[in-house]
Order: sequence, then C-alpha cells, then structure tokens
Amino acid sequence: MGRKFFVGGNWKCNGTTEEVKKIVSVLNEGQVPSSDVVEVVVSPPFVFLGLVKSSLRPDFHVAAQNCWVKKGGAFTGEISAEMLVNLDIPWVILGHSERRLILNESNEFVGDKVAYALSQGLKVIACVGETLEQREAGSTMDVVAAQTKAIADRVSSWSNIVLAYEPVWAIGTGKVATPVQAQEVHFELRKWLFANTSPEIAAATRIIYGGSVNGANCKELAAQPDVDGFLVGGASLKPEFIDIIKSAE
Ligand code: G3P
Repeated sequence: MGRKFFVGGNWKCNGTTEEVKKIVSVLNEGQVPSSDVVEVVVSPPFVFLGLVKSSLRPDFHVAAQNCWVKKGGAFTGEISAEMLVNLDIPWVILGHSERRLILNESNEFVGDKVAYALSQGLKVIACVGETLEQREAGSTMDVVAAQTKAIADRVSSWSNIVLAYEPVWAIGTGKVATPVQAQEVHFELRKWLFANTSPEIAAATRIIYGGSVNGANCKELAAQPDVDGFLVGGASLKPEFIDIIKSAE
C-alpha cells in the first residue's frame, strides 16, 4: 500500500481576516496534483478556522493547531476536541515543538492529547523533533523515540496519525535539514515503529518533514524514500506553498 503524499501548512499565530482571505484565494486558484496524489491540510489559528473552512476549495482540508487533553469544561482559554468535531474540523496538530518548549508540554501530556483527540474522531498531525543541543549531543534518535513512544503507549491504531519530524534547529531558521539528514531520521522512526508497533503500521504511517521547507528545497527532500510529505510554516503563508504541494508529483 503506497503512502499518499501529505502537505500541511501550519500558519501558526499569523494573519488578519484580510490576509487570510488572500491566502485562501491563492490556494483556491493554485494548480496542484489531484487529491488522489496529495493530501493538503492547512492550519489557521482557531479564530479563522470557520472562515477558512467555508471558503477553501473542497479538495483541501483544515486542521486546528492544538486542542485540550480531555473533555471540555472549566478550562478557560482551551478548545476541546469535541468542539472541533462539532465544527467538522477533521485534523489537529499536536505536540508542536513551540508548545513543547515554550508551554512546557511534556511527552506524556502530548501522548494523552493525541489519544484523546483520536478517541473523539479527529485525525492528528503529531510532531516530534530534537533541539540543536540534543542533536549535537548525539541524542536525536533517543529524543524522537521517547516522544513517539509516549504516543505509541497510548494508542492502538495509527491510521489517523501523520507523524511530523520537525528538528527544532530547522524551524523558522532558514536552516533546512539536508535530504540525507531528514531521510536518516525518517528511516529510523519507521524502524522504531516497525519494532515497537507493527510492520503494517510502520509501512503505512506517513512521516512528514518540517523545518524551513520552501519552494526551492522541497523537491530534493520529497525524493527521499521515507519522506512522505511536509509540514510547512513560513512558506505556507506564501504562494510558494503551491510549489511545495506540487513536489508530490
Ligand atoms: O510546523 C511547521 C514548522 O514548525 C516549520 O516552520 O517556518 O520553518 O517552515 P518553518
């Protein structure tokens, strides 16, 4: 079974109504491969989810950038998985390094969130990745394996999970991982899934790369056998996101 290429656009905490409308119109006019070839999901801030969902072309989908770890209630400022489902938002990004590092989300907390979101029917883009310090200390695989294990310990099915490898040192820095560096970690992650989940899950789970992906470097990264797509930050706000989607071909 082939893994369908996946391109996610993480808009992070960016955008005004006018800017969002412009981005959506660029996306709507873009000539991209069919949805049989590539799955495209864009993730605006919560407040723009409704606007984007109602105006975006039907072959592209939307994701929230986070959701709460359990059933909603007295949790001021949080958005529950149930609310996303109620609004027909199919995807959520969880475990992004900006939340792990700035908001101190632990591996266990992210694992709990992933499990709860899946239990409510959401599909999850689960992010893992090491800091520069961890890479230089030679602990990249230990770090991403521990992050992945906290998810694997809590879920049985991976069919609604896309695993995003995002080395922290490559995010927003313009310092993209080389195709060899990305392939190496993606291969190791797939090997980890093979040994710790099942051969079927390892073969079917899409492992996507994030960190300074742009229109110029996407082709070479996409050609790597274990790179099944991208999670794009900065460039997903620009017309070059269309070129990144085209790298699926
Ligand atoms: O989630 C995407 C991300 O963190 C990568 O951001 O701006 O380096 O493409 P960027």
